Amino acid sequence: MKTAEERSLEEFRLILGGRELVPVMQGGMGVNISTKAMALAVAARGGIGHVSDAMLPDLTDRLFGTGFTKLKAGLCRAADVLADKTGFQFPLSGVRDAARRYIADVMSDKKGDGLVFVNVMEKLTMNDGLATLKARLLGALDGGVDGISLSAGLHTSSFALMSEHPRFREAMLGIVVSSRRALNLFLKRSAKTGRMPDYVVVEGPLAGGHLGFGMDWMNFSLGDIVRDVKAYLAENRLSIPVIAGGGIFTGTDAVRMMTSAGADGVQVATRFTVTKESGLPDAVKQRYFEATREEIVVNGVSPTGYPMRMLTKSPAINSNLKPQCEPYGYMLSHGTCSYLKAYEEARAAGRLSEGVPEKTCLCAQMRNCKVWTVGATGWRLKEASEKGPDGRWILPGTAEVFDDYRYGTHDEVHCRH
Ligand SMILES: Cc1cc2nc3c(=O)[nH]c(=O)nc-3n(C[C@H](O)[C@H](O)[C@H](O)COP(=O)(O)O)c2cc1C
Repeated sequence: MKTAEERSLEEFRLILGGRELVPVMQGGMGVNISTKAMALAVAARGGIGHVSDAMLPDLTDRLFGTGFTKLKAGLCRAADVLADKTGFQFPLSGVRDAARRYIADVMSDKKGDGLVFVNVMEKLTMNDGLATLKARLLGALDGGVDGISLSAGLHTSSFALMSEHPRFREAMLGIVVSSRRALNLFLKRSAKTGRMPDYVVVEGPLAGGHLGFGMDWMNFSLGDIVRDVKAYLAENRLSIPVIAGGGIFTGTDAVRMMTSAGADGVQVATRFTVTKESGLPDAVKQRYFEATREEIVVNGVSPTGYPMRMLTKSPAINSNLKPQCEPYGYMLSHGTCSYLKAYEEARAAGRLSEGVPEKTCLCAQMRNCKVWTVGATGWRLKEASEKGPDGRWILPGTAEVFDDYRYGTHDEVHCRH
């Protein structure tokens, strides 16, 4: 019998919606770090690629010249929301249109046997959490997306919000959780729609982006949570594939997660942040390659309330950027956001010039690629590349990183460029 080190992911298949897929999901990375080109490259090779729906109205303006941000800013001016943001409303038909338009464009270019999903974070509250979440979910279904991964929240209403849509039972729907408890709550609350999720992503404490843990994240292990979630599903006689994500750097890490923890597939993201297709600016990709282990930290600057992992050199940390709610405002909840509060407190105390260390203006800073979020293995990215004659790290292609996960053995990283 072969050891995990001798096996490759190619020996496994993920069965989803009656299809046989390479068991590699490239995780969603907002805002537009997981681009259309990245997700399509993964789907073309038989895996599952994710785009993200984070700030799609703004992204659609940039990609297709639509006028959502201008329209919203005009509405804000008319309602004079500069001081009081409780009345600040996102034009909901515009939100749905943006999602439909973006997703339809992605899907129209899809080739191969894989799938393209969209990652939808509940925490983009947009001042009216449920109504805007509904517009985003319906827009993604309108656009013909193969599946939706619900993340960054408990999503206890999300299935109900979509249940009238004609594609509610046709699209693959999954939930990202970090515990048995979160999954149980989701299933209990979604039961009334008579629909189960098609897959569950278990995200452990080593992932990039926001973490579904407190600041005690280091006390948890992905393998243990996967085993616990598998046990929960077995106890409830549920047969739902479990995808494990967070800290899986090599194909061998993935095989171990499948053979020792019982995962049915893996979700990976950090390795793709520095690919040619990644939406990060090239200079930021170089910073990712240069990162040391000590420079990757988990902090509390995100106004979502979730801890987030990022490079200590992220320009968004301790920035005193004026709150950008009028053009963006995706974190507003009932007129407020914890960055707004922190900014006002710093201003009132006369210490604005020293920066705002407590929180960051997440919408603007993510949009402008100033939050350099990455998984705990980010310091190893340099193992998967080399420097060119100009002294810069050479960017691998998405397809090469995907193939390295698929065919890699013995913990080796073969991906060059
Ligand atoms: C740069 C970056 C951005 C991310 N953005 C999101 C996001 O917008 N929504 C989300 O649910 N997860 C996000 N994640 C988490 C990934 O989708 C994925 O589950 C996780 O990072 C996998 O672990 P790994 O990076 O160690 O491979 C992000 C991860 C990274 C590295």
